[in-house]
Amino acid sequence: MKRQLHLNLFLHSHGHHEASWRHPTSSPLPLTDIRYYLDLAQRAEAALFDSVFLADQLALGGDVAQAPRTWLEPITVLAAVAMATSRIGLIATASTTYTEPFNLARQFASIDHISNGRAAWNIVTSWLATAAENYGGAGQISHADRYVRGEEFMEVVKALWDSWATDAVIDDRAIGLYARRDRIRSINHRGDYYTVAGPLNMPRCPQGRPVLVQAGSSDTGRRFAAQHADAVFTAHMAKATAREFYADLKRLAASEGRLPERVLILPGLSPMIAGTETDAQRLAREVNDLTDSEVGRKRLSGRFGGHDFSHLPLDRPLSPVDFPDPASVQAARSRTEVILHLVRRDRPTLRQLLGYLAGARGHFVTAGTPEQIAELIEDWFIDGAADGFNIMPPLLPAQLDVFSAEVIPILQRRELFRTEYTGTMLREHFGLPWPTSVFDDMAWKAELQEAVAGV
Ligand SMILES: Cc1cc2nc3c(=O)[nH]c(=O)nc-3n(C[C@H](O)[C@H](O)[C@H](O)COP(=O)(O)O)c2cc1C
Repeated sequence: MKRQLHLNLFLHSHGHHEASWRHPTSSPLPLTDIRYYLDLAQRAEAALFDSVFLADQLALGGDVAQAPRTWLEPITVLAAVAMATSRIGLIATASTTYTEPFNLARQFASIDHISNGRAAWNIVTSWLATAAENYGGAGQISHADRYVRGEEFMEVVKALWDSWATDAVIDDRAIGLYARRDRIRSINHRGDYYTVAGPLNMPRCPQGRPVLVQAGSSDTGRRFAAQHADAVFTAHMAKATAREFYADLKRLAASEGRLPERVLILPGLSPMIAGTETDAQRLAREVNDLTDSEVGRKRLSGRFGGHDFSHLPLDRPLSPVDFPDPASVQAARSRTEVILHLVRRDRPTLRQLLGYLAGARGHFVTAGTPEQIAELIEDWFIDGAADGFNIMPPLLPAQLDVFSAEVIPILQRRELFRTEYTGTMLREHFGLPWPTSVFDDMAWKAELQEAVAGV
């Protein structure tokens, strides 16, 4: 079969544009109303998206006076969405820095059971500096240390998910045997950061382990993704950097002994779509006119770990010296590099840069007709920049509906996207194998021993 695209819907606020909530087409439901998320997930499932995704930050943003974000805790939302859908994959963000591996392993295994095999975890180390103030107040752990801790965290959660064999539960009520004790193992982990005895207090989940998603793009982030991620989210403002990222990550995955096609790369795409290009651009301008540049300035400051941009005039072309060196930034380092790449290339004014970032915070923003958007998707897909896309509609639900009704059918006609779900689990949508566990290895060894003994 022809290689096909994967599409994830990134649910965020009333749309990814910073001013989406003020636009007349945005949903009237507040972001604390679960019906808002259920409705969007059902629309995405009807359009055959692979998955929906919720991001998360562990502190209130400094721009709350002028900007609603996604408020409900994502894992909790997924439990509700799981009950209102049956096929679509469910991805939630959770932090390796600010939780314990045992908690997280239970939560995602639970979502996988509740959804019959549709759960995925977006692994983040949490870049937002103010989050540290809500978790002990000892200050933000450095970028490098967050990843070192994350590595050990991964070792523990994987061991916990593997601590039950698939066939551990017998549930034989007549003889009174619930589980085979020899098919459940402690993990006895003792490391620099975590001490966890295990096993997990829950049977192995339908997908074996939840699907693992990652979105770090710094050098350390890329190595982490190459080792652990089944799917990788990434932000690019140009196809050239997306291609460079794609090639590098596939190479790194291969050097980890993994099949590169089993690490899906999904760059963000925020398309404003209308019947004509002029109408799409007019709509984009209309939403942009609702933004407040002081909100943008605060967000930019957050991206650069709190750097002060208040003295910069709005209308003079920017230069790289107006920004701190990305290597010194302890927040989302790769996004600062994306921004600096744009500044070097286009020399925008601060007003122009903030206008662009208002669209989708540093992801690829475009406005066009359904044909133009489908063309762009196909071009990135066949030209080594993407295995699919993280679709970030600027206005929700309006621009999701246009994408589903107008762009997806073009992709389907070109045989680039599914016309029905062929599986029920997210692993199947993503074309991923089932993870093997220590028990599979034991079963395989036992079979081998029997065969050898037979000879
Ligand atoms: C699509 C996407 C979604 C992300 N969602 C979150 C999130 O929910 N919470 C978070 O702390 N970081 C999030 N990030 C940030 C990344 O996890 C990572 O911290 C950031 O890209 C910086 O990576 P680096 O530290 O390797 O440079 C997201 C990034 C992308 C591209």
